[in-house]
Amino acid sequence: LEQIPEIFRLSAPQALSLSQEFGTPLYVMDQLSVIHRCRAYKAAAKQYFPEFELSYASKANSACGLLTLVHSEGFHIDCASEGEIRAALRSGVRAEHCRFHGNGKSRLDLEFALKQGIGQIIVDSLDELALLRELRESIGETRIVLRLAPGIEPGTHAHISTGQQDTKFGFGIEPGFAIEATRIALENKLPLIGFHFHMGSQLMSSSITAQAASVMAEFAVEAKNKLGFCAELLNFGGGLGARYTDSDTVTSIFEHCRLLSASALPILRSGGLKPRIALEPGRSLVAEAGVTLYRVMAVKTIAIGTGTKRYVTVDGGMSDNVRPALYGAKYTVKNLTRGGHEHTVTVCGRHCETDELFPNVELPSETAVGDILEVLTTGAYGASMASNYNRFLRPAMVAISGSGDHTLWQRRESWEELFSREVAP
Ligand code: LLP
Repeated sequence: LEQIPEIFRLSAPQALSLSQEFGTPLYVMDQLSVIHRCRAYKAAAKQYFPEFELSYASKANSACGLLTLVHSEGFHIDCASEGEIRAALRSGVRAEHCRFHGNGKSRLDLEFALKQGIGQIIVDSLDELALLRELRESIGETRIVLRLAPGIEPGTHAHISTGQQDTKFGFGIEPGFAIEATRIALENKLPLIGFHFHMGSQLMSSSITAQAASVMAEFAVEAKNKLGFCAELLNFGGGLGARYTDSDTVTSIFEHCRLLSASALPILRSGGLKPRIALEPGRSLVAEAGVTLYRVMAVKTIAIGTGTKRYVTVDGGMSDNVRPALYGAKYTVKNLTRGGHEHTVTVCGRHCETDELFPNVELPSETAVGDILEVLTTGAYGASMASNYNRFLRPAMVAISGSGDHTLWQRRESWEELFSREVAP
């Protein structure tokens, strides 16, 4: 468990048979890979934190089969919307095991969550605190956590950076917003239990998260000294990255926990605090456990100046994986139908815009229509960010078990579903 596990890949025969049975594009998740990573988090947390709580950030992939699996491994479910709470409930997760995040929760969202008996609400603004004060009667066993902004640049893509000073998320520790929010929560007798931060996503090293953990530990001690509030929970968020290409290296789950513990625990101990440490990984549990299969639809060589460029069009695109378009994300692509001498091509999607899914990847020069391509590390933020752009149907998701059997987790969308919201003739 201490080692960094293998990135999941299908065998060519299995991929070809799945693509025939379920069609393409097809998301495939390996359950053993997910279980392995869940257990690595549990073992590492057990080793480095006296008490801990683990949640899965379901925005990474909220297929109900996956939520059930991760929950059966002892993870709570972090939900960022009523929809994600509903997905968790459908998956057999009790509301008390769900945590509710978000910087724009409506009164209706909060009423829904409280009615279900949500375990924790991670509060993001004074307006949300005011709403909760109004809803105090229905708070019941729900506990309140304040999201803080540690004010440190996480050094990842700007779209997925959240813990820096200029952020819409949380209460800035500087210049005193966080302590003020703590005071207001206590004054209003809201059941505050602690603090949360999430620095950003796809962080290949844990040093920034560890730095933020020490800033939060110092803040928790400050809250004890100034307000007499003893935090019983500190949540260090998610963010640990995944390997998308050969050049990516990532901190192991064990090292991640060791670094967080080493930077926060001594401060907490000397400040007389012994909070439970919470983590809420998304990507690092599921990204490398998933692949996407596509079928080649066309291969075209174009002339550029005196040279040429080859486009390989597949039967998916930015509607099943928006990450290249949104973040310039890179991936590893394999041809499972044939091998042979490779050359550089651009794999593009079939949407009516540039839709360069995987630019400059190496594929066999004989790659041809009908070949099955496998794209690695697509288990996170693929299906969960999928759309119906150009009225394409969202792909199915299949789960492989340890014995090699497969289960359908999500059907491919149907034409009826695609038009089910239309009210005009
Ligand atoms: N906790 C909170 C409060 C979060 O906002 C997130 C992710 C996580 C945990 C989990 O982060 P992870 O461990 O997955 O890095 N769509 C983007 C990623 C957005 C992440 C948003 N928040 C992408 O495809 O790269």
